[in-house]
Amino acid sequence: MVGDSIGTKLVSLGHKVIMGSRTATNEKAISWTNRNGALATNGTFADAAAYSEIIFNCTSGQASLEALQLAGRENLQGKILVDVANPLDFSKGMPPSLSVCNTDSLGEVIQRQFTDVKVVKALNTLGCQLMVNPGLLKDPGNIFICGNDVGAKAEVESLLRTFGWEKIIDLGDITAARGTEQVLPIWVRLMGKLGTPMFNFSIVS
Ligand SMILES: NC(=O)c1ccc[n+]([C@@H]2O[C@H](COP(=O)([O-])OP(=O)(O)OC[C@H]3O[C@@H](n4cnc5c(N)ncnc54)[C@H](OP(=O)(O)O)[C@@H]3O)[C@@H](O)[C@H]2O)c1
Repeated sequence: MVGDSIGTKLVSLGHKVIMGSRTATNEKAISWTNRNGALATNGTFADAAAYSEIIFNCTSGQASLEALQLAGRENLQGKILVDVANPLDFSKGMPPSLSVCNTDSLGEVIQRQFTDVKVVKALNTLGCQLMVNPGLLKDPGNIFICGNDVGAKAEVESLLRTFGWEKIIDLGDITAARGTEQVLPIWVRLMGKLGTPMFNFSIVS
């Protein structure tokens, strides 16, 4: 869902996109390619990483490390990785728990394991329809970014502005991913209460 939404938005903005999966013949990825015209292709995670300047990690949080290993350390080296994943553990049913939290986060785990990659945590605090179309809400609210590389964050922030985002809060280094991942329990609860994923957090001061 998330890869489809972000990939479709990027193509609509004129970017070439490679949708990665565990296999090059993933049916959903092929269907996405067929729907998105000449700028869209699909392949393995390694294909996507090798031929891209910026990589979006839109994999299940429980599988992100495995997916990034499949993408290949050499293909990721030196690149920006926008980490949209949440470490949600559904093994005990709903609501999910966080498999990493408090003094650590998935964003930090990825950064520690892939030290040559510029991890920027972003867009993980809202539903995928809104991620790429903030104008669907009268007041779109805020999104958050964090990461250790200042240049990488600036590049991601510029890209997210082209998605329509105006109120982007840079929370600092990648340890801030603890906070942005730990809002997921309240996000899940709110979705149940409101009966829709079409809402967002708005910071007032
Ligand atoms: N849905 C939302 O609105 C939303 C909002 C904010 C954040 N997020 C986060 O964004 C991420 C993507 O969410 P989603 O709902 O689009 O998809 P998802 O079903 O959580 O994940 C699908 C992706 O994970 C990969 N994957 C699953 N198991 C794997 C494994 N064992 N090894 C390697 N790769 C594996 C799949 O690869 P294949 O293509 O090969 O199957 C596919 O690329 C999640 O971390 C989620 O928490 C979602």
